[in-house]
Amino acid sequence: MPARAEERKSGAGRVDIEPVLGFLRCRTPDAWIESALTDLDTLLLDHASLELKAAQQAQKLIRNYGLVRRPARDAREAAFRRRLVNRMSRLAREELRHFEQVVALIERRGKRLVAIEPARYAAGLHAIARRSEPGALVDSLVIGAVIEARSCERFFSLLAPLERADSEIADFYASLLRSEARHFGDYLALAEAADSGAWKSRVDLFLECDSRLVESDGPAIRFLSGPGPASGRG
Ligand SMILES: [Fe+2]
Ligand SMILES: [Fe+2]
Repeated sequence: MPARAEERKSGAGRVDIEPVLGFLRCRTPDAWIESALTDLDTLLLDHASLELKAAQQAQKLIRNYGLVRRPARDAREAAFRRRLVNRMSRLAREELRHFEQVVALIERRGKRLVAIEPARYAAGLHAIARRSEPGALVDSLVIGAVIEARSCERFFSLLAPLERADSEIADFYASLLRSEARHFGDYLALAEAADSGAWKSRVDLFLECDSRLVESDGPAIRFLSGPGPASGRG
């Protein structure tokens, strides 16, 4: 335990990511890390797209649940809306800043920004989400927490191998850990505030789905994919 804690503290630049690692059911498979290191340009292109989507998702939550025509029913609902608008507005700004940073990194590597086929990960989580309220809101927030936690864990898992392979990306990912760990907490707190009863069972469901998706082979390596085609590994 002391050695593990030491690794986490030094690797994460004194960011406490224990809550994130304790939340997830599994760590990123070594096979994914090996595949990712062989195609960092694709990883960065997918990462750019994910940062943009994270900003869009936060704005969608504000639009659907914060800035709506129907007046709040009571003080509790008004407080929830205010909290959601504040947290998601800040989060969206931070994600757009991350997007700009990834784009700059891609260009410094002599590559051009281009859209690539996304992983099945986010679609896999959204496929089991409820469509009607109040379940749809709770599920959107829980999915946000799971995606932020997994992203944070991926940055952390890549730190040590990247320090040997590409120190510029390693430094950048170390800088992202703090905000992604906070985003995870923001989403989880909002999910609890939205539904103090059933949210935990939804967390269990989406974490099972997350484990399945990150441990199974995907069609190609992506930032939030499984380890990629099995045939490509020895
Ligand atoms: Fe981000
Ligand atoms: Fe984030």
